Amino acid sequence: MKIGLLGHGVVGRGVTEIIDGHFPQITVSSILVKDLSEGNDPRYTTDAYQILNDPRIDIVIECMGGIEPAFTYVKTALENGKHAVTSNKKMLSHHLKELTDTAEANHRSLRFEASCGGCIPWIHELERTQRIDEITSFRGIMNGTTNYILSDMTGSGADFNETLKEAQKLGYAEADPSDDIDGNDVAYKCCISAFSAFHKAVDPDDIPHFGIRHLKKSDIAYAKADGRVIKLIGRGCLNEEKLSVWVMPVMLRGDDPMCLVSSNLNRIELSCRTLGTASFGGQGAGSLPTAHAVVQDVLSIEDSGIPKTWETSDNHIETVRGTYYVSGRDLSLFEPVSAECHDGWVLTHEMSLQELSALMQNSHDVFVCEVSR
Ligand code: HSE
Repeated sequence: MKIGLLGHGVVGRGVTEIIDGHFPQITVSSILVKDLSEGNDPRYTTDAYQILNDPRIDIVIECMGGIEPAFTYVKTALENGKHAVTSNKKMLSHHLKELTDTAEANHRSLRFEASCGGCIPWIHELERTQRIDEITSFRGIMNGTTNYILSDMTGSGADFNETLKEAQKLGYAEADPSDDIDGNDVAYKCCISAFSAFHKAVDPDDIPHFGIRHLKKSDIAYAKADGRVIKLIGRGCLNEEKLSVWVMPVMLRGDDPMCLVSSNLNRIELSCRTLGTASFGGQGAGSLPTAHAVVQDVLSIEDSGIPKTWETSDNHIETVRGTYYVSGRDLSLFEPVSAECHDGWVLTHEMSLQELSALMQNSHDVFVCEVSR
């Protein structure tokens, strides 16, 4: 089996390390890099079409990141009769429908285990569960960088920016870490999870996402005083055919198992009638854990299984209700919906996520966090 690899950064290097070291029957024959000075590997090329048009290549693995040209390359690979594996959640969440259709039209597999939850076989479990039952909801810690920051700030009172730098050094953070700390990365992962769990393609730009950019030590202290822990949680649920997907920090009750998830670890749960709730955990970011998921996809490509049907869906966040802690300098917009107002923070009445999103759109430098029941 011959592989063409697009991108040789944190994940791509992990992929060559695993395949070159463990699978003599699989050959990574060409590697697309931006610049030949990235290293002296004889497989390096700067011409993507040398890979995409090579009839000897069976599978194209895309680990470049970014929407373009990654999307065009993956689509072309499928159209040229190759199977495709990608770890690129941003590209995938914006083009799930088109790429799935292209794969199906060309009778090829498109696999993307590494795009959500690093090494956790999450997409696989979503698909496997549906052999028996319909999934009703999922929720999880799906971003290693922010969990690393939250764990350190909660555990040792570490400084936000210092911890973020550490996460960047360890290869957890995105090229632009705003995607991590503002919750976009989790929104992409929720979009892909919702597609796999419910067969509904929601536009990632319609997923409300609130991150931890404006989190302060005082917010953590507030949660601690109430026996709670703040985690960034992505969620999706299907209620009477209405899909809701959203991302926000949550002040979890201290006895919630999610509170114990530390460092770059992820933990994601799915729920359905017959099994109740099942949780899956592991390293959600980093070179080898993510590459492990990519290589698992390569190994399963022969029996990629369940045919996918999907429909587009609105995001029904008006059906999601919660109570929210909001902190920041100017909270005047939140006063009318507050149950408690204090200097620097408020607690809202129960309200819809849609109402909250509208208020957040007109607010600046505000940290918001759901207070779990
Ligand atoms: N930046 C991502 C994270 C990488 O921190 O989880 C893995 O998707």
